[in-house]
Amino acid sequence: MSHLFIRALKGEPVERFPVWLMRQAGRYMPQYRELRKKVSSFLEFCSNVKLATEVTLLPQHLLGVDALILFSDILVPLIPLGIEVKFVPGEGPLLNAPSPEGWKPFNPDEVSYVYETIREVKKLSDLPLIGFAGAPFTLGAYIVEGKTSRDFKEIRKLYHSDRETFDATMTKLVEMLKIYLTHQVKAGVDAVQLFDSWAYTMSPSMFEYYANKHLRKLFEYLKEEFPSTPVIYFFRGSGHLYPAAKRLPVDALSIDWTLELEKALREIPDKALQGNMDPTILYADEETVVKETRKLLNTVALHRKSRYVFNLGHGLAPDMELQKVKLLVETVKGFKLS
Ligand code: CP3
Repeated sequence: MSHLFIRALKGEPVERFPVWLMRQAGRYMPQYRELRKKVSSFLEFCSNVKLATEVTLLPQHLLGVDALILFSDILVPLIPLGIEVKFVPGEGPLLNAPSPEGWKPFNPDEVSYVYETIREVKKLSDLPLIGFAGAPFTLGAYIVEGKTSRDFKEIRKLYHSDRETFDATMTKLVEMLKIYLTHQVKAGVDAVQLFDSWAYTMSPSMFEYYANKHLRKLFEYLKEEFPSTPVIYFFRGSGHLYPAAKRLPVDALSIDWTLELEKALREIPDKALQGNMDPTILYADEETVVKETRKLLNTVALHRKSRYVFNLGHGLAPDMELQKVKLLVETVKGFKLS
């Protein structure tokens, strides 16, 4: 029988809802901070198979989660395109990219350490492993902006002022993502998640254009090539973007707290749902963490007995407490479905 996490995504019977957390292996963990000291740059860390494998595995023992996520970064596959990527402490990512016609053809072998890490993790753990990539809009937002931003105005400006270059950028990213994710699945990942962290900066009509013209092509390809590998789409801004997102050919939508859970359960009946809890719940006291988590799970259980995966609406932050994160995971695991 397949693992709880995969069964929940496929709508098969489960005895409880599974749990994993975005950014579950990261700076809030003293163990990560210790390993991180072994190399000077974050990208060097990601390309070190031994370190990346060790960090990917940390949440299995430290938290007891039901799935692991590959340790890497969404910006890693941009490097083979000839885009310069740097992580400057305190400033976040910095990029320097030519216009799309100047990108190199994506050579997946240039990031072979990603697939090697997947193979190593699969040797060492029986938990399902989630592969991932950035969604084309979020990658494009970083590329055009060159750095992180509060509202990613440059990519939206491009959409309105030079649609041809916007489309060329999205098309090239979709083509790269097809190859990159194919290599991840072939290396052994059990599910894939696409991160569209900056989707919320789009209007509903821009999102609809992007989702139908570009994003859909990537998901159609994945479903056709790998019909049994669940695909999860994480999009922030779920509250105003879900009407177009719910028509995408994916197995699960990972939603943030801007979409009311009841409404999501009612209006997206045919897909698995993941997430929704505001991560800042982890700054509340322990009793509140337990109470709010049970409340959310009770709401889900009123509507469905499978097709839900517990997660937060966004990633864990570096200043969160490991003990409280563990309590959150234990609370979900203690919630039995009868
Ligand atoms: O979830 C996991 O545990 C797996 C690893 C993972 C990382 N980044 C590790 C990381 C994943 C899935 C990502 C995805 C990612 N990267 C996203 C999408 C998810 C999200 O949070 O919205 C985005 C937007 C990025 C881009 C990125 N990478 C940012 C904005 C930063 C933070 C920069 C900073 O200095 O604050 C990173 C760096 C990064 N990625 C770190 C980790 C653990 C911190 C690096 C360090 O140790 O200094």
